[in-house]
Amino acid sequence: MDNRSQWGSRLGFLLAAMGSAIGLGNIWRFPATAYENGGGAFFLPYLFALLTAGIPLLIMEYTIGHKYRSSAPRSFKRISKGMEWIGWWQVIISFVISTYYPIIIAWAVMYAYFSFGQSWGDDATSFFVGDFLQVADAGTFGAIVPSVLFPLLGLWAVVFIILGLGVKKGIEVANKIFIPLLAIIFIIIVIRAVTLPGAVEGLNAFFAPDWSQIKDGSVWVAAYGQIFFSLSIAFAIMITYSSYLPKKSDITNNAFITGLANSSFELLAGIGVFAALGFMASQTDQAVADVVQGGVGLAFMVFPEIISEMPASGLFGFLFFASLVLAGLSSMISISETYIAGIQEKFNVSRRVSVTIGGGLAAIVSLFYANQGGLNLLDTVDYFINNYGVALAGLFEVVAIAWFARSLKDLQNYANDVSDIRLGSWWRLCLGIITPVVLGFMMLQNLLGDLK
Ligand code: PHE
Ligand code: NA
Repeated sequence: MDNRSQWGSRLGFLLAAMGSAIGLGNIWRFPATAYENGGGAFFLPYLFALLTAGIPLLIMEYTIGHKYRSSAPRSFKRISKGMEWIGWWQVIISFVISTYYPIIIAWAVMYAYFSFGQSWGDDATSFFVGDFLQVADAGTFGAIVPSVLFPLLGLWAVVFIILGLGVKKGIEVANKIFIPLLAIIFIIIVIRAVTLPGAVEGLNAFFAPDWSQIKDGSVWVAAYGQIFFSLSIAFAIMITYSSYLPKKSDITNNAFITGLANSSFELLAGIGVFAALGFMASQTDQAVADVVQGGVGLAFMVFPEIISEMPASGLFGFLFFASLVLAGLSSMISISETYIAGIQEKFNVSRRVSVTIGGGLAAIVSLFYANQGGLNLLDTVDYFINNYGVALAGLFEVVAIAWFARSLKDLQNYANDVSDIRLGSWWRLCLGIITPVVLGFMMLQNLLGDLK
């Protein structure tokens, strides 16, 4: 008998996969990345990366999960004995991310609350770094910061409950609430943003194509990097989630839906963020180019200032940070599930035990970021994970499957048996040649950049 956990419905799986994909990468990474890499012209390499690597890899990971019905390590082991470590490599990367991702969500929780009184005052940057995080002058360790620690512990409690309730009652139910709610909040924010004065200038800056950049290899690397990160591929996540699919589920169709939903959300975020940046530029007599930022700076330094300038600012501030929390939490659950499933299978323990051990360990490590040096530590770890960990994980995965195990043909037949859309040899070309070449190039470029 097969008593493996399963999703209750196809929609449940799709929402969970979208919940993983749609995250901080869509909201604060995509807009700045697109802007810096050719603006409107970036859509060409971006679309190319989506179709030649993003969706093909998503299909591959869904097929592996569906076929082997195991966590990433055991799935790779079933493909070939010597490949189990590739699964663990991905699981470990997810584990590391899961130790600092909740820190950012904890900040967003506090900022949702701060929004009502605009606690950041006139200088949001010095409030964030100085008053809120109390960043120490030097080093990566300092005193514990209680205003980060307490929301962090609360978040872990929520994560423990959701993961503890299991795939159907926990993860699926949470995403069925989070993702529709997120979509509604986000649409409200974007409508508000594009109707602010100055929004058009922001959108013009975002969409203005700089075609000269297309010749630059680094723009293509940025496009592939964005797609990998944004679709949560090579993190063991999508293999784990698809291992809970009922036997008769479509694969290819689900992958296209996930990919398109994620990109739509990303585009919407770009529109919202740049409309808001245009508004800010017009209020402060600056050029849009001077206020553009991504990442932590965009969310916790620039956005608070935009919020302060807006009418009904308390409400919109709250909605913005609430959207970060929802997007972040659904991604956080998916990263943690990789090691929960991995530990459960490897050591043959119950879900309760693996949640306690895996989640407990991650929660303890996460405390190291809740101190005055946490921001510096987070930056450093995040840099290495993104620039090396993930690219390597993807490279190992495709090379192992396409070249060592030579199982692409096998996977293709399997996917075609259960799916509406049929995969042709283009799919094997994308995974066997294009993706490894791009990932290899990406690694090399990062290495050369760092050695300089
Ligand atoms: N895909 C998520 C995003 O776009 C990020 C993420 C990466 C989440 C890895 C989980 C694991 O924000
Ligand atoms: Na994403």
